[in-house]
Amino acid sequence: MTAVANSSSSTLADFHRRSIEDREGFWREQAGLIDWHRPFDQVLDYSKPPFARWFLGGETNLCHNAVDRHLSTQANQPALIFVSTETDQERTYTFAQLHREVVRMAAIIQSLGVVRGDRVLIYMPMIPEAAFAMLACARIGAIHSVVFGGFASHSLASRIDDASPKLIISADAGSRGGKVVPYKGLLDEGIALASSKPAAVLMVNRGLAPLERVPGRDHDYAALRERFFEAEVPVTWLESNEVSYTLYTSGTTGRPKGVQRDVGGYAVALAASMRHIFCGNPGETYFCTSDIGWVVGHSYIIYGPLIAGMATILYEGLPIRPDAGILWRLVEKYRVTVMFSAPTAVRVLKKQDPSWLTRYDTRSLRALFLAGEPLDEPTARWISEGLGRPILDNYWQTETGWPILTVAHGIEKTPTRFGSPGMPMYGYDLKLLHEQTGEELGANEKGVVAIVPPLPPGCMQTVWGDDVRFVNTYFSSIPGKLAYSTFDWGIRDADGYYFILGRTDDVINVAGHRLGTREIEESISSHPAVAECAVVGVADTLKGQVAMAFTVLKDSGMASSPESAMALEGDIMAVVDRQLGAVARPARVFFVNGLPKTRSGKVLRRTIQAVCEGRDPGDLTTIDDPSALEQVRGVTGKR
Ligand code: PRX
Repeated sequence: MTAVANSSSSTLADFHRRSIEDREGFWREQAGLIDWHRPFDQVLDYSKPPFARWFLGGETNLCHNAVDRHLSTQANQPALIFVSTETDQERTYTFAQLHREVVRMAAIIQSLGVVRGDRVLIYMPMIPEAAFAMLACARIGAIHSVVFGGFASHSLASRIDDASPKLIISADAGSRGGKVVPYKGLLDEGIALASSKPAAVLMVNRGLAPLERVPGRDHDYAALRERFFEAEVPVTWLESNEVSYTLYTSGTTGRPKGVQRDVGGYAVALAASMRHIFCGNPGETYFCTSDIGWVVGHSYIIYGPLIAGMATILYEGLPIRPDAGILWRLVEKYRVTVMFSAPTAVRVLKKQDPSWLTRYDTRSLRALFLAGEPLDEPTARWISEGLGRPILDNYWQTETGWPILTVAHGIEKTPTRFGSPGMPMYGYDLKLLHEQTGEELGANEKGVVAIVPPLPPGCMQTVWGDDVRFVNTYFSSIPGKLAYSTFDWGIRDADGYYFILGRTDDVINVAGHRLGTREIEESISSHPAVAECAVVGVADTLKGQVAMAFTVLKDSGMASSPESAMALEGDIMAVVDRQLGAVARPARVFFVNGLPKTRSGKVLRRTIQAVCEGRDPGDLTTIDDPSALEQVRGVTGKR
């Protein structure tokens, strides 16, 4: 490993400046944090903006860096700690054991016909086999595409069609709050709905729900694991720019985008973030409460901590079950040094007895990182005072793979400010731009948070299978400038701290889960009684935001009595549950005679949202039928 310039001698501002002014020198140094099978010839190829290719010609492998690499020094140290408060299981895999399981899984995947570059869709609960599957794909150069276990058949079908996986790996069921959540039925329905069919399905049977096998297509993991128990599968060395995974995320359209990531750039970015931002050391334990179905789970449950030689906790369960001390009990038991969660989890804990925060010894914790949604000041203060450990907000996206804004205590002990995720991280040439003129804004001026390309290593390479969509979606919204839009509003204070002020598009954030309102609208509109609908995100004290649906029925008589309206509301929610998953279910479905629209027919979602939140909806001169807005006020009780 080569020396990496950091810490003591440098301030964050210097470190950041160098990362932009001497991009190649900076990232060449960071690249020394990982193992390369073949050194790269060129740090950056930016000959086709905005496409950036990092570490050209270099050969490496994510699984090697996460697992094999630690065998010589840490073989018998913990690597993966599985804790399920749902099934009362707790199991630790050392690096040597994790290696064996990943190799077995790799052999199984290969035996089912998967070769380098093939897609493997992973639809799994938080069980060790999910981690084995991701790492096994990385090992053999197969491209994994993890679909969050809370998503249902239509969400699955659209992802299956986009990724056309050769293999799907799944399990009989997940469990949430003590209730079994069967997966197989949804999976079979998703496959039936999709036009692209996987050749094989590999099922892990946890014995939680009945498993009906489709002969010739479905395979049993336990049986194949026995068959490949002693298998050897060497690492496949991949060129840095080959694809490691795709992960679907929501945007303005109903069709999710496959965020595509490389191998070398991602490994370097994660290794650098583990050192400079998360400050995790080999032999320590990292605990991230996210799910492998989200980007936080990819980067900071699986790859980041393991690349850093840390043990990582894979937790299946809620933060308040069996009691509100469970997270801290795990911190104490496994001497967790770095923890990562979401503001919603903290707000859930905040409703419980605060003494849970001090019943366990959490002094091992260097910091608790929170991300995924705005961290409101009361929540930040509560957890910071209650826990007595540094709370570090960090802002980023599925697209970037690692933090854009935070503080980097591995570089400098920059103080934090309530309400601000911090400052631009090294590698990101961050600007606040005027949404209409593209002009760069100064301190205390609200603008779109944008990144001047090239995007740093670890960020998305493109949209899977659609370079045009990548450019059109992300690089074409700010006039006169080639700049990546985060689609977030932001403001910077005079000292350089940024504040995130909400999305510029129709994406909503429910309990840290990013959802597209358009997808929910499409699902609701598929109900035979529905003529039209609009879904908006409304502020919620617990979940940050919740979805509210306003629906126009084909026959308004169907919801004329409170009983029929309630039954229909339940019916529509059940459609969303079945198609997208309970995670996307609106908190309420209201029935109205018409949606507030402009004269040209554009639904005024922001106006509806303002009314729902009791805010002034602003200029209403463009509204076609003011009585429609009055009705929104009426049904939501905001009159
Ligand atoms: O709107 C921002 C919000 O979540 C979006 C990205 O969500 P996702 O792709 O799921 O990635 C989450 C990775 C942590 C952002 O565009 N967001 C994320 N973190 C924060 C945030 N908003 C405010 N503060 C944050 N710390």
